[in-house]
Parts: sequence; C-alpha cells; structure tokens
Amino acid sequence: MCTLLPITIDKLTLTAGQKTLLNNISLNITSSGILVIMGPNGAGKSLFMRCLHGLSQPDSGRILFAGDEINQTHRKSQALIFQKPVLLKRSVRQNLEFVRNLHRTDNVASIELALRNVGLSKLASQPANQLSGGERQRLALARALMMRPQMLFLDEACANLDPASVSNIEEVLRQACKDGQKIILITHDIAQAKRLADEVIFLHHGALCEHTPARVFFQSPKSQAARAYLDGQILV
Ligand SMILES: Nc1ncnc2c1ncn2[C@@H]1O[C@H](COP(=O)(O)OP(=O)(O)O)[C@@H](O)[C@H]1O
Ligand SMILES: [Mg+2]
Repeated sequence: MCTLLPITIDKLTLTAGQKTLLNNISLNITSSGILVIMGPNGAGKSLFMRCLHGLSQPDSGRILFAGDEINQTHRKSQALIFQKPVLLKRSVRQNLEFVRNLHRTDNVASIELALRNVGLSKLASQPANQLSGGERQRLALARALMMRPQMLFLDEACANLDPASVSNIEEVLRQACKDGQKIILITHDIAQAKRLADEVIFLHHGALCEHTPARVFFQSPKSQAARAYLDGQILV
C-alpha cells in the first residue's frame, strides 16, 4: 500500500493575474489503484498534477499526503513522466545507470529487469536519441519505475504512441499498481481511461466537476461538462 495515501486536497486555488486556473478544488484520494484525470484542453489537469508533485505552488488551499504537507521525502517517493521525456544523450542502459547512481539506494530494481519490463533489452546499447517516440517513453517509464516510486504521475505520457507501446506501458502500469504503487494519469484517450481507470477526476475551467469510480463516470457522468466531453463535443 502506498504510504503517501490518503491525499487530502483542501480548497486548492491557483491564479495567474486575473485568471483563476485552479478553482477551490477539494477532494480526498484514499484508495490505491489507477486514478485518471480527464478534461478538455486548458482545464487545469497539468497544473493540478504539478501542484500534487510540488512543482507549482497554489495561492491558497492545502495538499496533505498521509496527513503531512508535501516535503522532500514525499517528492523523492514520487515520479512524474511528461509527454516528451528528457533523456540523456547516452545509451539506453546509461540513462538507467545514471539514475541508479544518482539515488544510491538498495531499493532499486536491476537495470536488466527494468529494460526487460519495457521491452528494451535489445536496444540497451543504442543511443537514446535514436529511439522512436514509443521507445523513448518506455525508457522514461523504466527510469521512473526503477526507483520504485510510491506514486507515479503520467501527463499524457501515451499520446501519439503506437498501439504496441501503449499496450506495453499499460501492462507495466497495471503491474506497478499491483505492486502497491499509486498511479495518477492524465489522458484524452477515452478507451485507455476505460481500460485503466479505477476512479476518475474530471476538471473543467479549473474546477472539479466529478470524482467518481470509473464505472459510474463512463456509464452515467453526472455533470453536463463530462457528458459533453465523452460525447466528443467541444466544451466552452
Ligand atoms: N504559468 C502559467 N501562467 C499563466 N497561465 C498558465 C500557466 N500555466 C498554465 N496556464 C493556463 O492555465 C490553464 C490550464 O493549463 P493546463 O493545466 O496546462 O491545462 P491542461 O488541462 O490542458 O493540462 C490554461 O489556460 C493555461 O494556458
Ligand atoms: Mg496538460
């Protein structure tokens, strides 16, 4: 079980000038499993995730992990994967070695195992900058999971990837989840959300519209905004 749970989010608000980007968001994330964050472009999904990871500071409100304000220990037990991962201009294996050496802890999965998990064993000696988009993202995932984070954030990490890479990543995420890691994932891919999500958060205009079990969200979303989004309508 992830030791960073529950996450208590209380009246989280973030503004820029006159604009309210995150609007008084309150919720509790209590259960393990995969949480999917959905919502149209500009809804505040990435900002919300950045706040959870401590990369952005809210103007007001609080985020507590197992009752404590975010601190360095929390940060170290979280990992975040972006849509375009930044990799070192070295080989695939050296990218993983770099991270392993940086952290110097016993709690690190072996590099061979990490490579095998994401199907990159045969490409271990290849320069990372020669990898395809899907291979790059799988390397980023292996790098993140090698440190056995308690909580893994993915911000549209599967966008524009081929089906085999998406399938591999989803399988790795399911396994990570079984191993007790909490997964929080932003995606626009409704089919992927249906495959993976245990619960769903839906944001619109920086506000929380829904936080429900996935089954309920996809069968009978209660907000007009989520219904329209799932129907493929443009939200204004
Ligand atoms: N640093 C910033 N300063 C001002 N506005 C920002 C900043 N970062 C994001 N925004 C705005 O906040 C809104 C939400 O952004 P974001 O969280 O990236 O949306 P998305 O749901 O697409 O991930 C957008 O309108 C975006 O332009
Ligand atoms: Mg975003």
